[in-house]
Parts: sequence; structure tokens; C-alpha cells
Amino acid sequence: MSGPKEYLVISSSLRPSSRSRILAEYLREYYESQQVSCAFLDLRAVNLPLCDGETAYSHPDVARCAKLITDARVIIAAAPVYNFDVCAALKNLIELTGDSWEDKVVGFLCAAGGSSSYMSVMSVANSLMLDFRCLIIPRFVYATRNDFNDEKVPTDEIKGRVARLAQASLATKNAV
Ligand SMILES: Cc1cc2nc3c(=O)[nH]c(=O)nc-3n(C[C@H](O)[C@H](O)[C@H](O)COP(=O)(O)O)c2cc1C
Repeated sequence: MSGPKEYLVISSSLRPSSRSRILAEYLREYYESQQVSCAFLDLRAVNLPLCDGETAYSHPDVARCAKLITDARVIIAAAPVYNFDVCAALKNLIELTGDSWEDKVVGFLCAAGGSSSYMSVMSVANSLMLDFRCLIIPRFVYATRNDFNDEKVPTDEIKGRVARLAQASLATKNAV
């Protein structure tokens, strides 16, 4: 986990061969190609408790994650689609870090099994807007396994979409 930065990329899949993490890593590379350094929070690298609304908040890894989120202006969350929603690990992070999300610009990179679940991010997007007044970048990247080649490299089409999401996030710099 790197230090706090204006841009934060969160990889929330706990799966070793995650495709959403590949999207998150590509986004980080893209930011670096634009001379934008970003923090990278991989939820596999922290040991977050399940949110119980009480004692879990005092776990040291919750404080580490909350600091990264607080310090960021833009947060791009990469997530697997599970049961027509983002994965529970990302929702748990949001439950644990709540107010840290206040007024952030937020975007999403999603990996899914099929093309039918493309609106799955809306539930968490709505809650971030309503609970924490986040501004949601209306340019979700949504990828299935067909959007990666055999070496798990995203297609040029998906790379282009990640780049456009990054550009949209950079364009909010003076708008927010
Ligand atoms: C518990 C579970 C629920 C899932 N639910 C959906 C779903 O509702 N829609 C869908 O398109 N894919 C679903 N999938 C497939 C995952 O989105 C897909 O495997 C994706 O690549 C996971 O992201 P990751 O590779 O970053 O871990 C589900 C997978 C699991 C394990």
C-alpha cells in the first residue's frame, strides 16, 4: 500500500487471478503515463474486519484505509460484480470508512461474468451520492472475460475506456 495521494485506485477483488485488479493496474499505469501518481489500495493486502458498526472501526487497517481515502480527491474503485452488485469486500470497506468518502469524485472499473449485470454498480453509486455527496463519474468501465486476451491483457477497446475514465477524472481537477 503506497502513501496518500490525490488519486486513489482501490482494487477490491480478493481473487488471486482477478480481472478487475488487471483493470486497476492498467489505470495506475495510465495515470503514471500522464505524470499523475496515485495511491493503490489492494484489499488483499489489508486485513479488514467485517463491519459490525462498533468495535471494527478501531482496527488499525481501517484507520490506514480511511487515511488513504480521506487524503484522496478522486477515488476509482475496481470491483467484481457479485449478485448484481459490487462485491461485499468493497461495500465492507465503505461501511468501515464511511465519512472518509465525503465529497469525493468516484469512478468504477467492473469485472463481470456476463454482459447483463452492467447496472450493478448503481446501488453503491447511489449510496455514495446520497450518504456522502460523492460526485460519480458517469463513465463506468465494465468488462467480461471476452474483454481480455489469453494472456489476460485487456483489449484495446477496454484500455481506451479505462483511459477515458482516467481523463474524465483528471478533468474534474478544477471543476470540483
Ligand atoms: C459470488 C459471485 C457472484 C457473482 N455474481 C455475478 C453477477 O451477478 N453478474 C455477473 O455478471 N457476474 C457475476 N459473477 C462473476 C464475476 O463477476 C466474475 O467472475 C468477475 O471476473 C469477478 O471479478 P474479479 O475477476 O475481479 O475477481 C459472480 C461471481 C461470484 C464468485
